[in-house]
Amino acid sequence: MAKLWSGLASGAIDDAAEDFNRSIRVDSRMYREDILGSVAHAKMLAAKNIISAEDAEAIVEGLNGILADIDSGALKIDMEAEDIHTFVEQTLTERAGEPGKRLHTARSRNDQVALDARMYLKTRAETTGKLLKSLMGTLCERAEESKAMVMPGYTHLQRAQPVTMGHHLMAYAMMLSRDLGRLSDAVRRMDVSPIGSCALAGTTYDTDRFFEAELLGFGSVCENSLDGVSDRDFCVELASDLSLIMTHLSRMSEELILWSSWEFKFVELSAAYSTGSSIMPQKKNPDMAELTRGKTGRVYGDLMALLTVLKGLPLAYNKDMQEDKELIFDAFDTVDACLTVCAPMVGTMKLIPENMRRAAASGFINATDLADWLVGRGMPFRTAYKLTGELVAECSKKGVTLEELTLDEYRAKSELFDESLYDAINIDNCLLRRTSYGGPTPKSVERQIEYIKELIK
Ligand code: ARG
Repeated sequence: MAKLWSGLASGAIDDAAEDFNRSIRVDSRMYREDILGSVAHAKMLAAKNIISAEDAEAIVEGLNGILADIDSGALKIDMEAEDIHTFVEQTLTERAGEPGKRLHTARSRNDQVALDARMYLKTRAETTGKLLKSLMGTLCERAEESKAMVMPGYTHLQRAQPVTMGHHLMAYAMMLSRDLGRLSDAVRRMDVSPIGSCALAGTTYDTDRFFEAELLGFGSVCENSLDGVSDRDFCVELASDLSLIMTHLSRMSEELILWSSWEFKFVELSAAYSTGSSIMPQKKNPDMAELTRGKTGRVYGDLMALLTVLKGLPLAYNKDMQEDKELIFDAFDTVDACLTVCAPMVGTMKLIPENMRRAAASGFINATDLADWLVGRGMPFRTAYKLTGELVAECSKKGVTLEELTLDEYRAKSELFDESLYDAINIDNCLLRRTSYGGPTPKSVERQIEYIKELIK
């Protein structure tokens, strides 16, 4: 396919350089946005009498035909073309003749690519938002089922205090709810049309950028043409939001990997989302969770690469910016692929409450409650904390739990102790009494589920 440009750079380009310069393999996926952007541009040119109504009609008809043919597979995108903008414009001219040559009046590929990317990425962000909601919905379902399954909560990966599986799962739903909010914030900020900035300095034609933006469903237009073609903040912002989604998915994956190990066995992943080993017949490996954890690095890499591509670029357009799409597309593809397997992986895993309870029974996760009981009898917390620590050490030496110490053993430490202490350190009671807002009781978890359900409906 011929190049769009000629003039000073009209000598033949070296084959390797031509291929190096090409972006069609990456940007061909924006064909719809490129065509819809061109349809709006032709309509604006006609509305402002820059081209005739007949020419605009021929252009729009030609472009719609190209869109339909690419969609149906009747027209293959030529991978020898320089980029998607070149391919669409040249195909249009082949099909519609002279009017096609008028389409590129009062625009440049610089504002065109900025427009296409914003349109395409707005749609991608919406899709990712839907996938996030689906995982949040799954977490709500599993939390509903496990809101009374007591398990140890951890700090430093050491058993700390009782929570429930439902409470734990809802913590992830909360993180994802912020991710959802960040994506929609980013979309709101990028809902600004750059088209009409032209190469960098606007145009001498009497165009109407507002009309064109409105046709394309943008909320507003960018205020400065140099910024319009140079700004890739939206790519960085999206990649940063996507990175944080991966952080959350990776932490959740790490827990699923731990929890499905024999050491924990709080959950068993479904066969549909695990793999076996080619040598060890007993293995059931959490590959999907591990891959999600592993792919996190890749999305962080996309973010870092985007930031690095942009730093030090003088205004306005520079070819470096062509690198943006491969990075941000990879980030979206990776996140969407992870969300697509994570939701059903969480949805189908088997929960094993006996093992959660067994883990909750040892590790002295009711020690704080014992100290709090003493505080209720008038002892200062710091004193109660110390005394409880001594009791824990004693239990540890004897190989028993706090529940198994006799009342005499307790009273040897403090006269304050009576029979009711056993009620206070019963694990279920320890959980049910943590009634502070946001806490782990089944009732509180229900409220959290309602909160998320309201957000995703
Ligand atoms: N393929 C280019 C990109 O993705 C389109 C813009 C080209 N503009 C230019 N002046 N060479 O950035």
